[in-house]
Amino acid sequence: MHRRGFLIGCAAVAGSLEGSAMAKALGEAADAGPAGSARAWQRALLVGQDGRPLLASTLEQRRTLLFHYPFVGTPAFLLDLGRATRRRVALKADDGEAYVWSGGVGPEQSVVAFSAICAHKLTYPTKDISFISFRAEPSPVSKRGDVIHCCSEHSQYDPADGARVLAGPATQPLAAILLEHERDSDHLYAVGTQGGELFDDFFARFGMKLALEHGGRERQAVSERCVVQPIEQYCRQLMRCA
Ligand code: FES
Repeated sequence: MHRRGFLIGCAAVAGSLEGSAMAKALGEAADAGPAGSARAWQRALLVGQDGRPLLASTLEQRRTLLFHYPFVGTPAFLLDLGRATRRRVALKADDGEAYVWSGGVGPEQSVVAFSAICAHKLTYPTKDISFISFRAEPSPVSKRGDVIHCCSEHSQYDPADGARVLAGPATQPLAAILLEHERDSDHLYAVGTQGGELFDDFFARFGMKLALEHGGRERQAVSERCVVQPIEQYCRQLMRCA
């Protein structure tokens, strides 16, 4: 049901965002093959907890920031990796869908966003605890730094490479959240998703828990603004598994 909504929305929004992240992603997804995936959702301005728009050039680098997109109940990471990411990364989802992730946005092309729902067994950050987060430094359980690490079974993803799987049992990248950077204002917008999003499975598995956590609004599409905050402020406990 959700997937259908994405595709319909995609056509409508892509026409109005020429030159944008969505139009770019759609073009590159098409290059990847007929099954390439990019799905438009609400164009949402990313704001801080004070309600002011985030500025891409002043994000704290290599820190896990959290917001919810494209639904009120679906968590996502926002990261400034501090260096330009790879560009035009060819990836494949578990359903065989090929797609091309454009790369980071912002002045240094270093700002990325990915679903925070682990592609293995859907571990995700709750208000109580998170087993999944960005790890800037290497640790006994991850040989390198700058990875998104899930402590559940140690899946690791490379956010500079489209969240490609580096290690662990996950078999597909984290779904990408498509971002737009408005150069004049330095503002950031979330505009869509790309890759193997697992939202239907996520709602099916955690429906009751999510309803409690989000007051029954978990399946609502986000509004025109998404509040972004450090993961430590959203989650009472952050598991490091090392
Ligand atoms: S749920 Fe993340 S590694 Fe298993």
